[in-house]
Amino acid sequence: MSILPLVEYPNPLLHEKSKPVTRINDDLRKTLDDMLETMYADRGVGLAAPQVGLLKRMIVIDAEQEDDENGKHIQGKPMFLINPEIIASSEETIVFCEGCLSVPGQKADVVRHQKVTVRYQDKEGKQKTIEAEDYLAVILQHEIDHLDGILYIDHLSRLKRSMLLKKLQKSREKEA
Ligand code: NI
Repeated sequence: MSILPLVEYPNPLLHEKSKPVTRINDDLRKTLDDMLETMYADRGVGLAAPQVGLLKRMIVIDAEQEDDENGKHIQGKPMFLINPEIIASSEETIVFCEGCLSVPGQKADVVRHQKVTVRYQDKEGKQKTIEAEDYLAVILQHEIDHLDGILYIDHLSRLKRSMLLKKLQKSREKEA
């Protein structure tokens, strides 16, 4: 496995719509493994293909990973979702403080559906359905948004978004 370079805001790729995956083969599975490793390297809980520069409808998620007392990373429950699609969502909403590996170092509250049902294909191309709520539902909505060129900051008010982007710029200036 290898770590892939991350695409960061304001790269225009992040605002493009990804294309459906039509062929699930070993190359694609290797890319998914690389995406998982890339996500783990930055302790992300989800990563979408456009974030590594691929406009393909696929995401990886692990909502249960942790670090042990020595800081060693322990894999939780990695999930690979190809062509994921939200087919049902609750009226009830939930507010969660979200971050994104493509908008490094920033966080903000976003309103999401509390429950979603997602249809997808697994690594073998098998059709599956998952019902998720709370944290996992939030991650699924955040990652599937990426496939439609939507970032979590696009859900914020104009004022909140511009404040967040100013902070991002300042933190980058410090790094430079
Ligand atoms: Ni993200």
